[in-house]
Amino acid sequence: MSRRPLLLALLTAGGVTALAPLPANAQGSLVVYCSVQEEWCRPMMAAFERATGIRVAMTRKSSGETLTQIRAEASNPRGDIWWGGTGDPHIQAAEENLTIEYRSPRLAELHPWAVRQAEQTGFRTVGIYAGALGYSYNTRELARRGIAAPRCWADLIKPEFRGEVQVADPNTSGTAYTMLATLVQLKGEEPAFAFLRALHRNVNQYTRSGAAPARAAATGETLVGITFLHDAVTQKVGGAPVELVAPCEGTGYEIGSMSIIRGARNLEQAKRFYDWALSAEAQAIGAEAKSYQLPSNRATPIPPEAPRFENVRLIDYDFARWGSAQERTRLLDRWQREVRAAAR
Ligand code: F6P
Repeated sequence: MSRRPLLLALLTAGGVTALAPLPANAQGSLVVYCSVQEEWCRPMMAAFERATGIRVAMTRKSSGETLTQIRAEASNPRGDIWWGGTGDPHIQAAEENLTIEYRSPRLAELHPWAVRQAEQTGFRTVGIYAGALGYSYNTRELARRGIAAPRCWADLIKPEFRGEVQVADPNTSGTAYTMLATLVQLKGEEPAFAFLRALHRNVNQYTRSGAAPARAAATGETLVGITFLHDAVTQKVGGAPVELVAPCEGTGYEIGSMSIIRGARNLEQAKRFYDWALSAEAQAIGAEAKSYQLPSNRATPIPPEAPRFENVRLIDYDFARWGSAQERTRLLDRWQREVRAAAR
């Protein structure tokens, strides 16, 4: 059961930001694996430290990389909680018994899609935000080259985009795995792989991190970056000459998730973080850090910049199936053999 020490009650009553620093080890420590952008990980950890006095050691890694790390450490776990990253690898971690069941008292505050994520895994994970997949392109570079604005997935395999598209590697990145599973659900598996092989010819680089292609499109290093739309919004809000595309054929989305690692050495602190991270106040830190996902707590204001699902043609993404160890492993193996290894 999560203890709510008097100290925490007093501190949160006064508002998180006005807190005096606490003795470093006042309430113990916590090791967090963070799979959102570093720019959001840091203020989130700092706010939790201020609110609770618990010292946080945080490592930022992409979603697939974090799953690999947690699996490798399973006999001697070093992390306590995994916060953020796409839901599929969290679902796989649950199935592989790498994470534990926890029912936060805050579940009742969440949107149904976030609770469903928990129910589907026997409460071994929970939804913390959602975001739709798409791409962005550099408007200046597009105009300079006289290329018509792309609108669909199909546009990205056209010859004029040869060497002009950037996307992450689905082995490391949850974003890129979401694209892989989305295309399979949208087109059927064989046409999806034919599309991915054609796209491969146009890809200039498979990055480790899912959001990196949005930054590359912003600087003009690539013409097109495939990412979650909210990652492109961050660039646009920062003044980059980019336009966002929600592909005309339809697209998938993520339910960013959080899980407590089995064997966590700081289990009590992990549960404190879990409950706190689901609160409306903690979730509001995302928008302050220019992260424009849709928050899972119903009371957290949706940032006005956040791409709204109503404006995107979304597929009915089957998270249970495409997050299962069997399907995720199978799709990644196939992508590695038939797409990544293919000549360009
Ligand atoms: O923080 C941005 C973000 O797009 C999250 O919405 C998402 O869960 C995460 O990055 C995925 O990162 P990656 O593709 O590197 O695993």
